[in-house]
Amino acid sequence: MTGEGIGFGKAIVFNEHFVVYGVPAIVSAIGKYTIAKVKTIDEPGWRLNDNRKATPNYKEEKIEQQKDSINRILKKMDIDLSKNGIEITLDGTLYCASGIGASAASCVAIARALSNHYNMDLSDEEINSIAYEGEKAYHGNPSGIDNTASTFGGLIWFEKSENNIMDRISLQNPVEIVMGNTGKVADTAAAVAGVRERREKNPEKYKEIFARAENIAYLAKDAFQNEDYQELGKLMNENHKLLQQIEVSSKELDFLVKLARDAGALGAKLTGGGLGGNIIALTPGKDLQERVANAIEKEGFQTLKTVIGATRGMR
Ligand code: MEV
Repeated sequence: MTGEGIGFGKAIVFNEHFVVYGVPAIVSAIGKYTIAKVKTIDEPGWRLNDNRKATPNYKEEKIEQQKDSINRILKKMDIDLSKNGIEITLDGTLYCASGIGASAASCVAIARALSNHYNMDLSDEEINSIAYEGEKAYHGNPSGIDNTASTFGGLIWFEKSENNIMDRISLQNPVEIVMGNTGKVADTAAAVAGVRERREKNPEKYKEIFARAENIAYLAKDAFQNEDYQELGKLMNENHKLLQQIEVSSKELDFLVKLARDAGALGAKLTGGGLGGNIIALTPGKDLQERVANAIEKEGFQTLKTVIGATRGMR
């Protein structure tokens, strides 16, 4: 018998990094996903077939974190593989890169496939908390935003606290975005640790930046609710500036952000951990989306055209 499970990719639209400290953030699942399959094998332990397509070096650089992550998931689920082991196969439409939720999507997909394989019938909430445990291997101390988007899908307002706040933002119509991949694999745990160090060294400067980030989250929520994409784009641009100030951007990310804006995107910013990985550009309408994607591709970078705000991320 084979167990199967799915986890969505994601794009953080506002306030990555700030979210780790309880500042509200906005995230959306995207229309790409990872699928995990689990089957029993005759030997003890687990083995992995990772068939996901990926940015060069992505899988190699994450391999130790991935092993740790799978072990954490198995432990959290109390699965004993000392007699019969399992083979896990990863596949799906999500192209692995930094900033697109590849680690969270795999944690969610694996947790769901295991739940299915062992007839545990776990709820989405339970899957989410298992995936959070798996994410610790990649992020150190994750906020939980990525696994939440990956589990539940849709557009989500997220606040880290004792009991994380998660509110759905409903859009009448999903809106087009372009993601642009720098091709650089980045280490989220290192990026998060760097912010922590600099914040401790410059408390006054960081306090101001964090206060503005919080402000932006509320303005962005209103802009989403009014479907005011001009305003949303401006707020994304400002959010990118704050991310530059906390030093998680890079010259490749800044280059892609500028390309997207010059091609007409209403706003663009890095998305996810930064220091490499992806940007997100707001491009309502298929024509604008096409134009921005072409401008990025012409410079030799890979893009993903998708939407944010679709129910369960599936479009
Ligand atoms: C990574 O996708 C998002 C970060 O905010 C880390 C986290 O929230 O765990 C950088």
